[in-house]
Amino acid sequence: MRAAVVTAFGQPPRYQQYPDPRPAEGEVLVRVLAAGLHPRVRSGAAGTHYTSDQTLPLVPGFDGVGRTPENTRVFFGGLKAPNGSMAEYIAIPADQLVPLPDGVDDIMVAAAMNPAVSAWLALTHRAELKPGEHVLILGATGNAGQMAIQLARLLGAGTITAAGRNAQALAKLPALGADHAVSLDTDDDTVARRLAQAAANADVVVDYLWGHPTEVALAALTSARTDAAHRLRWVHVGAMAGPTIALPGATLRKADVDFRGSGQGSVSPAGMRAAHRDLADRLPTAGLTIDTLTMPLRDVESAWTANTPTGTRIVLVP
Ligand SMILES: NC(=O)c1ccc[n+]([C@@H]2O[C@H](COP(=O)([O-])OP(=O)(O)OC[C@H]3O[C@@H](n4cnc5c(N)ncnc54)[C@H](OP(=O)(O)O)[C@@H]3O)[C@@H](O)[C@H]2O)c1
Repeated sequence: MRAAVVTAFGQPPRYQQYPDPRPAEGEVLVRVLAAGLHPRVRSGAAGTHYTSDQTLPLVPGFDGVGRTPENTRVFFGGLKAPNGSMAEYIAIPADQLVPLPDGVDDIMVAAAMNPAVSAWLALTHRAELKPGEHVLILGATGNAGQMAIQLARLLGAGTITAAGRNAQALAKLPALGADHAVSLDTDDDTVARRLAQAAANADVVVDYLWGHPTEVALAALTSARTDAAHRLRWVHVGAMAGPTIALPGATLRKADVDFRGSGQGSVSPAGMRAAHRDLADRLPTAGLTIDTLTMPLRDVESAWTANTPTGTRIVLVP
């Protein structure tokens, strides 16, 4: 078959011949229809994701939409390196296949499921968001942040504060359901003041940034709460702004902050599969929107280096 193949970490994949997958016991051969180029796919292909075992060559791709030999259209996720979804075929355990409802578009599903699942797991499984609770999303301008806004609204959040640095993308977030849009693209004192105004009494933070913006937001919120003992559930999902934070001990004494992460490991494979099924069921009525750019898989090398606007997800089609 033809596939995108990484032979050296740090280099884009090349479109070339790759051995056909041979399904093992319990696996199904799926013809791939579409696969999203998510940050998770890039870090896997670069050997920098925390699950990477450094095996080369590898076919990148973490999930996608495909057809089974019985002609069922499915979403599949949670692929393990080195055999990813940027190929004509994959072999995958049958229990990782999620039949797709009619009427949902292949490209939309391939683009949206990864960022949507990140938000869904953070809001439901990890934060256990209740209707009426207030949510702050850090890094809301990206695909995952935009999904977090839409899903928090769907789950009945009270107010939703969306924070990000890209002005053009930030301006679009109220239309997705954000009550407040806070720019992170200014000095720390201004950011802290605006976050405190908009989200001092947040119940849940969904954090795609970490690093310095998280330090600023954490200090702002924990200093401004009406009731410092009212629990703030802070869910770390992504690290766009940095892999670490400095956490003053006093922060944990002066307010009730509960940190948890959401990702492969902190959520079990069964929990991930359940989230895929939950979301797939909701797709026909959820009205989720995402900007996409579809490219043929043979152009994977240029897709890798394409300069797309923030919030646009590339989808590759074999
Ligand atoms: N744990 C999980 O289950 C899970 C699942 C999916 C995604 N993730 C992670 O979540 C993160 C976001 O994913 P995504 O799909 O939304 O990616 P994305 O669509 O590429 O968006 C990333 C966003 O982050 C913004 N950004 C980058 N650096 C920033 C900074 N220093 N300060 C403020 N904003 C910054 C970018 O805006 P600019 O235009 O300003 O650069 C962009 O809007 C990634 O780290 C990804 O790996 C985790």
